[in-house]
Amino acid sequence: MRAGTNENMSSPGKPASLNDFDMVLFGGGGDLAMRKLLPALYALSGNKVWPAGARIICVGRHDWTLEQYLEAVEQNARPNLASGTFSEERWQAFRSRFSYVSVDAADAGSYHSLTKVLRTEEAITRVFYLATPPSLFATICQNLAGNGLANAQSRVVLEKPLGRDLDSARQINLQVGKVFAESQIYRIDHYLGKEAVQNLLALRFGNILFEPLWRREWISDVQITIAEQIGVGNRMGYYEPSGALRDMLQNHLLQLLCIVAMEPPVSVTADAVRDEKLQVLRSLRRFTPHTLVQNVVRGQYRSGHVNGVQVPGYRQEPDAQPNSRTETFVAVKAEIDTWRWAGVPFYLRTGKRMADSLAEIVIRFKSIPHSIFAQPVGSFQPNSLVIRLQPNEGLHLNLMAKTPGDGMRLKPVDLELDFRETFKKPRMEAYERLLLDVLRGHLTLFMRSDELEQAWEWVEPILLFWEQDENEPVPYASGTWGPAAASALIGRDGLQWREETLPEV
Ligand code: BG6
Repeated sequence: MRAGTNENMSSPGKPASLNDFDMVLFGGGGDLAMRKLLPALYALSGNKVWPAGARIICVGRHDWTLEQYLEAVEQNARPNLASGTFSEERWQAFRSRFSYVSVDAADAGSYHSLTKVLRTEEAITRVFYLATPPSLFATICQNLAGNGLANAQSRVVLEKPLGRDLDSARQINLQVGKVFAESQIYRIDHYLGKEAVQNLLALRFGNILFEPLWRREWISDVQITIAEQIGVGNRMGYYEPSGALRDMLQNHLLQLLCIVAMEPPVSVTADAVRDEKLQVLRSLRRFTPHTLVQNVVRGQYRSGHVNGVQVPGYRQEPDAQPNSRTETFVAVKAEIDTWRWAGVPFYLRTGKRMADSLAEIVIRFKSIPHSIFAQPVGSFQPNSLVIRLQPNEGLHLNLMAKTPGDGMRLKPVDLELDFRETFKKPRMEAYERLLLDVLRGHLTLFMRSDELEQAWEWVEPILLFWEQDENEPVPYASGTWGPAAASALIGRDGLQWREETLPEV
C-alpha cells in the first residue's frame, strides 16, 4: 500500500518556513553524506527557516554509538563545510540534532530501532534520504512500509545512479512506487540544483531577447561540456561498473540538454517543467548500431600531467582492473527531431582527467549572411552565448565590434556577466538548495519517473552496443581534452569544441 500523497508544489520565488522534520539518512556514514549531505545540512542550519526541533537520524550498518558516529562526522564531514561558515557554537548546536541508528537495510527486523526514534506527530515532515547503492532502494522502501514507517508525511529521496539500465530503473520506479506516491519521490540530479542552471531558466524565460532566436533558424549548434581534472580516485568500486555514460551522460548532461531545448513551460510548477523536459527526451533521435559508430566516442584516460603533476592512468588507479574497458570519457552528437531543433546538433561530452575543470553550455548562432564591410563573411566570428556553470558562474555573449581608430575593422568582443560579482550574496550549494526543496515539498528540480525512464531508453542502445563491441575505449592522455576521435566527431561538421579556458575572475 502506498503511503499517501503530499501536496505537489513547485519552487516559488518566495521563501516559506519549514515544518519541523526528521531527516533519516540511509548511508549516513558514507562518502556522499560526509562530503555533501551533512555539510549542506549544516549550511541550512544557519538559515532562518531552519526549524528549532529539526533532527538528523543517521542510519548505518556499523554498530556505532552516537559518540563514535559524531567522531566520524568530525573527521570526515567537518573539513567539507563551506569555507568561512564554521562557528563552534553553530557546530555544537548542529551536532546536538543527531541520532545514530544501526540498521541492516536488508533485514526488516532491524528497523525497530529506527521506529523507536522517529516522531509520529502529523506536523513533522519525515524524509528518508537513500544515499545507498540503488540495489537497496526497493528493499529499504519495502522494509519502511513493512514497519509502518512510510506515512503520509514522508518523502523519499533517491540518490543517483537510479538503476544501471532501463530495466533496473523501471524496477526501482515500480517497487518504490508501491510504497510512495510519485509526489513523495525526489529523484536527485544535483546539476539541477546548481545556481547557473536555474539562471538558464531565468535567461530563457525572463527575457524577451533570446526566445525568438532560440531555434534552428538562428542557432547553428549547441555544445555542453562537463570536464573534470580529477580522476576516479577512491571510487573505483562504484565507477568501474558504471563509467562516464551512466555516471554523467544519462543524467547530468541530458538534464542540461533538456533545460536548453525544452519549450517554454506554462509555469515553474513541477509537472509543467517536467512535461516539457520529457518531450525533449522523447524527441531525441535514437541511435542505431550504424549511427552510433559515427556519433558516439568513448575514451579512457592513460597517465599524463594534470596541472603539471604526473598522474596514473585509469588502469593503474587503486583497485583497478588491468584490462578494464570502462569509459572515463564520452562524447556524443545528439539530434532532437522537432520543428524547433531539426538539424541543430547538440554535442555533449564529459570526461575525467581532462585539461581543465569546467562545466559550460555554448549556444553558437549562425554566421551573418553577407558582409557589408571590407572583411569577408568568414572573418566574422559567429555570435555565441556561453553559460558557465562552474567555476565562475556567469554568462558570456560574444559579439563583433569595431576596433577603435581609423577604418572599419571588426573583431570579436565578450560581454560578460559574472553572477558572483553581480549578486554579492552568498550562493547555495546544489545539495543545500535541493535538500531545502525536499523539506519544502518542491519537486520542480527533481526527476519524474517517466523522465528517468526516457533518459535510460535513449542511452540503452549505446550500452548494449558497447557490451558487444570488440573495440576498447580510445585512450587519451590525462591532462588533455580527450581522444582525438572526439575532435573528429565535431570536426566532421566543420566545427571545433570550445576549449579556450576563460580567465579566472
Ligand atoms: C557526480 C558523479 O554525480 O557528479 C561524479 O558521480 C562527478 O563522478 C560529479 O565527479 C561532478 O559533480 P560536480 O558538481 O563536482 O561537477
